[in-house]
Amino acid sequence: MAFREGDLVIFLDHQERSFRQRLHPEGKLQTHQGYIPHSEVIGREPGVALLTSKGKELFAFRPTLVDYTMNMPRKSGIIYPKDTAYILLWADIHPGSRVVTAGVGSGALLLALVRQVGPTGFVWGYDVRQDMLDFAAKNLKEFLGDTSNTELRLGDVYQAIDQRQVDSVILDVPEPWGAVEQSALALRPGGILVAYAPTIKQAENLTAALRGSDCFGLVETVEILVRDWHIRHRSVRPNHRMVGHTGFLTIARRIIRPEGNPLEPVKTPEKKPADRTGFPETD
Ligand SMILES: C[S@@+](CC[C@H](N)C(=O)[O-])C[C@H]1O[C@@H](n2cnc3c(N)ncnc32)[C@H](O)[C@@H]1O
Repeated sequence: MAFREGDLVIFLDHQERSFRQRLHPEGKLQTHQGYIPHSEVIGREPGVALLTSKGKELFAFRPTLVDYTMNMPRKSGIIYPKDTAYILLWADIHPGSRVVTAGVGSGALLLALVRQVGPTGFVWGYDVRQDMLDFAAKNLKEFLGDTSNTELRLGDVYQAIDQRQVDSVILDVPEPWGAVEQSALALRPGGILVAYAPTIKQAENLTAALRGSDCFGLVETVEILVRDWHIRHRSVRPNHRMVGHTGFLTIARRIIRPEGNPLEPVKTPEKKPADRTGFPETD
C-alpha cells in the first residue's frame, strides 16, 4: 500500500544509515547529504528509491520491528533483536499467548511480545519505575497504535506477580532469581520462563535458584552470537566488527512433581564435589 500522510517511514542509505520520520505534507527529511520533501514520498510505494537535493540515493520503507526498535528513543539498555527472536521461539509465544514480562524498560522486548501475541493474546508488563512505563507506552503506541492487548503495571516482580495461568514469563531484571517464586505462581503447568541477563554470574545465580526449586525443570542457558559477512567482489570474509556481547538467555519449564509442594520456597542447591580439574562435577 502506498505511503499516506501520518505514516511512519524509515529512510535507509547504502551504508544502512537510517532516518525515521512521520510523513507530513509540509515535512522534509534533512540529512548532511541534502533533503527530501515528504511530498515526494506520499503516494509512493514502500521501497521507492529517492534522490536528496544533493543527488544521494535513499530508500523509503515502512519500518520493520527491527528498524523501529534499533532507532527508537531509549531510556535503558534494550534487548537486541537477535536475542528477542530467540526468546519469541523458545518461549513459544504465539498469537493468543498470555505473557508476563519485567522490566519493561524502554519497551524493546515489550513491543515484540505485544505484536506477537496479537489481538487474541495479552501482555502484562511490570516495572518498578513509572517513568519507564510511560516511556515504553509511548514507544508502543508510536509503532503499534492499538495497545488494547497490553497492561503496564507499576510493581516489583520480586514481591508479586498478580496474574495466574500465564503461558510465559520473560524477565529482564537485575536479580531474576528473586522472581523465581512469583514466576512459578504465575505460570501454568508446562509454561516457560525465559530470563535475559547481561552477565554469566546472573545466569548462574538464576540457574541455581531454578534448579533448587521444585517448580522448574529443563533449565538451560544460551548465548546468541551473530556474525555479519562482508561480500564484495573477491573480498569475502566476516566483517571486522560485530556485536561482541549482549547477554545470556536462561530458559526453564514450569513442572509439577506429584510428591512436592509446587510452591515450596526456593532451596539452595547442594554443592557437588570438585573433580580432579578443580571444577565441580557436571550432571
Ligand atoms: C534493562 S531495563 C529493561 C529493558 C527492556 N527489556 C527493553 O528491551 O527495552 C531493566 C528494567 O527493569 C526494571 N526493574 C528492575 N528491578 C525490577 C523489579 N524488581 N521488578 C520490575 N522491574 C524491575 C528497571 O526499572 C528497568 O526499567
